[in-house]
Amino acid sequence: MKPRIYSGAKPDAIAEDLRPLCDFGEDGMSLEELKGLIEERLVPHLSNYGLPSFHSFFNSPPEAGAELGGVVALRHNQGVTNWQVSPGGAVLEELCGRALGRLFGFPETADATFLYSGTYANQQTLYMALHRRAEEEGFDFAAKGLSGFREPERLVVAVSEQAHFSVRHAVRMLGLGEKSLLRVPVDGRQRMDVAALQDVLSNRATRDHVCAVVATTGTTSTGAVDQAGAVIDACAGTRAWVHVDGAYGLAYTLVPEWAPLFAGFERADSVSWDPHKQLGVPIPNSVLFAKRGADFKRMAIYGEYFNREDDPYPNPGLKSAPSTRPMSALALAASLRHQGMAKVRERLRAPLEAVKAFAEKLAGAPDVELCHAPDTGILCLRLVPKGTPTERLDALQLHIFRRFQESGERSVAITRVGGRAALRFVAVSPAVTTDALLESLEAARAAAKDL
Ligand SMILES: Cc1ncc(COP(=O)(O)O)c(C=O)c1O
Repeated sequence: MKPRIYSGAKPDAIAEDLRPLCDFGEDGMSLEELKGLIEERLVPHLSNYGLPSFHSFFNSPPEAGAELGGVVALRHNQGVTNWQVSPGGAVLEELCGRALGRLFGFPETADATFLYSGTYANQQTLYMALHRRAEEEGFDFAAKGLSGFREPERLVVAVSEQAHFSVRHAVRMLGLGEKSLLRVPVDGRQRMDVAALQDVLSNRATRDHVCAVVATTGTTSTGAVDQAGAVIDACAGTRAWVHVDGAYGLAYTLVPEWAPLFAGFERADSVSWDPHKQLGVPIPNSVLFAKRGADFKRMAIYGEYFNREDDPYPNPGLKSAPSTRPMSALALAASLRHQGMAKVRERLRAPLEAVKAFAEKLAGAPDVELCHAPDTGILCLRLVPKGTPTERLDALQLHIFRRFQESGERSVAITRVGGRAALRFVAVSPAVTTDALLESLEAARAAAKDL
């Protein structure tokens, strides 16, 4: 029998299996018994990210160095709230953030903070953008909030149509509301259309109200890389803060053949990155870089019992909101040190090459419609078997997706590109090879036959 991504069981059956794990009676159980229970009842229902047939999301099994770092953090100081909670952890986080800044080529003034997720990185950066704008207008955003702006209802955050929905969360949470999002159309490669952005920025009615522009270097749906340098150039002379959302894609700037696609990203006001997406580093592991480290001062809230203003020691906890913060830097640093950057590059290059070759092999296949040329490790396609009426093609992609999901044998995602349903093949783990992707395509062809 083929190895399965997960048992393939339905939610009710899984709930039945898991019931004993949440039966909180008076009596405990030995660790050995507990381990047996977890292995028997839970593990079969967990997704095996390490299988070559897992190509749906940004998950991969833990890299050995990252796992070691994660275990040490768990055993010793999980929390890096500040110096008092973890002196070594606080210094490690500061050092690691600056070393990563150099690795990615940010200027010497840059600094970084570790966060729980790319979602919070996007939210924090929009807060910092609003704060800077408020300073320009002569008031303290932390104190007055949006009401300090003359026309807060006209503030705009420009993003591509393909930006991650975390930007929607961010404008909701910041009180700007989704009406503040100005969705710039994408070009034929699914990248933000820079000419359309230029129109927005030269339009007198909108220009001065654009408080931030978010370029996505590696979109979630298709992996398209917005032209960061061109976006930054378009914003020159405006008051917009430029954020590059590299949650998924930033690591690929480290692969020399792919680096030119990302040119200029290091000039952005801020850049976010999720090492927990493509590096096999334990979740949570997200980083927000600011080109001017001093921008993080806008986040600081000093306390009386800790995080005091006169504290002379390093305190990474002042650069972002949470006070309970995990020692994420250790797992990331341990992983990079264990592999060495040459192996890290190989690890990153493997899925990019696998997807590139997958697309090349499918070019010209009469029953496959490629939705885009892959910029990174994602390829969206539609199966278009001869004779299938056009109006049934969306349903066909959904049928294949569901078939895969029910079988538990392989995992692809489903998305929409240009308004049409598409199967989304993602390679993140180095285990995902071109052959594995082609095998899934064959399975998709077989599943299509029985609709
Ligand atoms: C481009 C992009 N930005 C932001 C996020 C949100 O990151 P997180 O899932 O860590 O909150 C994602 C998640 O897939 C993403 O792909």
